[in-house]
Amino acid sequence: MDSEIKTPRHAAPSVGLAESVGGGGLASPAPCSRLPGFYKLSLHDRQQELLQRAGLFPSDLQLLDGGCLAVAQADHIIENVIGTYSLPLGLGLNFQVNGRDYLVPMCVEEPSVVAAASNAARMVREGGGFIAEADPPLMIAQVQLVEVPDTAAACAAILLAKAALLARCNEAQPGLVRRGGGTRELQVRVLQPSRPGQPGMLVVHLVTDCCDAMGANLVNTVAEAVAEPLAALAGGQFGLRILTNLADQRCVRVRCRVPTRLLATEGFDGAAVRDGIVMASRFAELDPYRAATHNKGIMNGIDPVVIATGNDWRGVEAGAHAYAARDGVYKPLAIWRADADGMLAGQLELPMAVGTVGGTLRVHPGARLGLRILGVKSAGELGMVIGAAGLASNLAALRALSAEGIQRGHMSLHARSVAVAAGATGVLVDVVAAEMSRLGDIRQERAAQLLGTLKGPPET
Ligand code: MEV
Repeated sequence: MDSEIKTPRHAAPSVGLAESVGGGGLASPAPCSRLPGFYKLSLHDRQQELLQRAGLFPSDLQLLDGGCLAVAQADHIIENVIGTYSLPLGLGLNFQVNGRDYLVPMCVEEPSVVAAASNAARMVREGGGFIAEADPPLMIAQVQLVEVPDTAAACAAILLAKAALLARCNEAQPGLVRRGGGTRELQVRVLQPSRPGQPGMLVVHLVTDCCDAMGANLVNTVAEAVAEPLAALAGGQFGLRILTNLADQRCVRVRCRVPTRLLATEGFDGAAVRDGIVMASRFAELDPYRAATHNKGIMNGIDPVVIATGNDWRGVEAGAHAYAARDGVYKPLAIWRADADGMLAGQLELPMAVGTVGGTLRVHPGARLGLRILGVKSAGELGMVIGAAGLASNLAALRALSAEGIQRGHMSLHARSVAVAAGATGVLVDVVAAEMSRLGDIRQERAAQLLGTLKGPPET
């Protein structure tokens, strides 16, 4: 990513970008994601609103209420199953990406993440929405070749046989080839020995178009199919045959602009907050300690959507952080500047290995529901929305940090958890939380005491 942000094109949503990833984007009608006052509705009314907006079935409510996965289904997914473990599923609102609205399912345990991302998405919406693009769905598998006597000769022999090797890769995945995917490229890298005289090591990268699958199994099969001929051509042995999570040929890029006046908070005008966000970005660009936390704020938006759609969040995390360190220094995945019009402009780039078919989606009804809520048509489109959630979360965190600090917002939501832990239910949760926030004393003892006062003495 450039260190300076180019002026984003905001005049019209970029149809071409959405179409370039296989038909996602603007084509199908989408529910408006702007739902003012949604958070004030009862849980029941929120669910009804979702059913209606996203065109879900009443039977989907059973999934939402039942944790999205029956124990009997879980028993077929991993080993030694003893139960299921639930997390809250919230709805990210106000998202508009390439001119299309999305209701964004977010599965996360941290209070304020969903509210903060929705609030930031509302500001971005007024600046023209998120503009995103996704690379083609190219995943890389690695074949390690060891004990190679002459690495230069091995490289030459492998490259000479490239066409036959690619054909063999594609024979191993006839279904993928029928769907329009397949292995497109083969690259050889020499890994320099750490001590002179050590035997040479090569790695062959097999670049495969996985269509709408995340593709881990597909590319692992491809790597296994050609390991033997590769080792024979190199005159050595094959070692590991596995995908790399540094999926740097499958990146998403998202950018946005925010009108400065919208950034204002109690006590800080918009320009001051904008300048604070730019300064926070520069801090992350200069300091890996800060970049790690800056990127954590991005992953606050990314992981919940990756989880809600049944994708491999450990893989996305590994790819994100490896990409952040690709130049040898750990850097922020998103940066912020003031653009020529004085608006705040942000830009994010990271690998996004996610799928809309196969994998967990075959076996997890909640993951399928997540995709239906989103209404995405391709893996690339999903990746762009996930990226937008990441950029929104980053914006929300930096705005709060640049103004009154993060604790005030966090603490009012934290107060609700403390109230629940002290035994508050129903309306008492908000009453006790509000009183603790007013007192500036958010502890379980205080919650219990307030609860006792509100409930009055126990009946005898
Ligand atoms: C907390 O979950 C995330 C933040 O620390 C991110 C940041 O510091 O940018 C607030």
